[in-house]
Amino acid sequence: MHVELYERIWMWIAGALIVLFLGVIVSTAAAGAIQPPSHIETVDPATLASHPEFSDPKVKTNADGSVTASIVAATFSFTPDPIEVPAGKPVTFRITSSDVIHGFMVVGTNANAMAIPGYVSQFTMTFDKPGEYLIACNEYCGVLHHGMVGKLIVK
Ligand code: CUA
Repeated sequence: MHVELYERIWMWIAGALIVLFLGVIVSTAAAGAIQPPSHIETVDPATLASHPEFSDPKVKTNADGSVTASIVAATFSFTPDPIEVPAGKPVTFRITSSDVIHGFMVVGTNANAMAIPGYVSQFTMTFDKPGEYLIACNEYCGVLHHGMVGKLIVK
């Protein structure tokens, strides 16, 4: 089959772009620890007030020494606030929302998850540098979305 020169060139360019994009996905997943959501756990947003974990969201140290931070996002704040976690220790964040979709982003780190009503977003992260970090909601959630911030204290 005869393929025109320019068509052949563009086929090679398109093929190269596909390889490049796949390479970016693979390298960021490996080197930047950027992963798609993989934890699927549901929770009834209507009964969060009586939920054993999310009725009183807080940071707690488990029997094995690991740390779990349970967080509820609601228009227009995060609970608890501030969130205090130890430095240099893996912290498992478990985040849900009681109303609409919010974002949970720790500015300056790659901690970034969606807070979705009905679901628990979970990721584990170690903060090596003590200090105060800004938590920002990065999903538009209403008129005060721009003011929906929290504080993470690593010490
Ligand atoms: Cu919550 Cu934007």
